[in-house]
Amino acid sequence: MAPKHFLQLRDFSRDELAYLFGRTRWIKERFKRYEIYQPLRDRTLAMVFEKASTRTRVSFEAGMNQLGGIAINLNRGDTQLGRGEPIEDVARVISRMVDVVMIRTFEQTIIERFAAHSRVPVINGLTNEYHPCQILADVYTYIEHRGSIQGRTVAWIGDSNNVCNTWLQAALLFDFNVHVSTPPGYEVEPERAGIFDTSRFQSFSDPMQACRGADLVTTDVWTSMGFEAENAERQRDFARWEVDEEMMANANPDALFMHCLPAHRGEEVAASVIDGPQSVVWDEAENRLHAQKALLEYLVCGRVSG
Ligand code: CP
Ligand code: NVA
Repeated sequence: MAPKHFLQLRDFSRDELAYLFGRTRWIKERFKRYEIYQPLRDRTLAMVFEKASTRTRVSFEAGMNQLGGIAINLNRGDTQLGRGEPIEDVARVISRMVDVVMIRTFEQTIIERFAAHSRVPVINGLTNEYHPCQILADVYTYIEHRGSIQGRTVAWIGDSNNVCNTWLQAALLFDFNVHVSTPPGYEVEPERAGIFDTSRFQSFSDPMQACRGADLVTTDVWTSMGFEAENAERQRDFARWEVDEEMMANANPDALFMHCLPAHRGEEVAASVIDGPQSVVWDEAENRLHAQKALLEYLVCGRVSG
């Protein structure tokens, strides 16, 4: 039987995501009480990084260890991938040796090719198109702070990148609305975002307007990994898309601010916002750990009760 993969958010149903959130809460509560929970004893996670990472690396490695398993870190340059071994062959070999694989890479087609040749579940740890583990943690964080996200409005300010695309998928799965404001030339491409229903998505040329009525304002770097050659041009094009206090004042008074991190204060977000009272960025980062532990448990063990 083909293994279950998590290559983009919509690979999971609403019911599976609701189950994962229940497990996330359960796992987090026990972790906070220092209770040992090790359903993944003798299990191994291989992590393949073709781009840099702090949060994804630490949360997957710490999470796997806390669940009783081990994680092996593979950077492109240290492996035969860096010397041109086909991704299909790497998938065939690694997946005979470990129980689950997490990959951070460039095009989505790379992770899809890996998954097609893998005997074990594959998790997307970020591609140019999607960042599903981030949005698992972000939606969970919203619910922790404010309750159900159904019917709420999320304002995405800035680049229509991998994180934005995944918010758009989340909107359809959790029934909320996304207001997107990008500079001209950086608009959402629904097909690339993997959404075939745009009913939950509205685009705004003015970021101030996009924030109106928002329950959550979120942004990300102007230049994502892999697009560094465009950095100078992007610095000019995105100058009006900094989330500052004036922008936050357009949102609902109890709106939260999120950023997947790493952040650039003074570029996509003002220091007063990211370090201010509406910001939940540290909870967001912490919840990567708990949400991904629930994901690992589900992909390796299936549904469990307890
Ligand atoms: N948000 C996120 O994925 O961070 P890293 O790039 O540090 O893993
Ligand atoms: N959009 C960013 C997210 C980093 C976690 C990037 O891809 O670089």
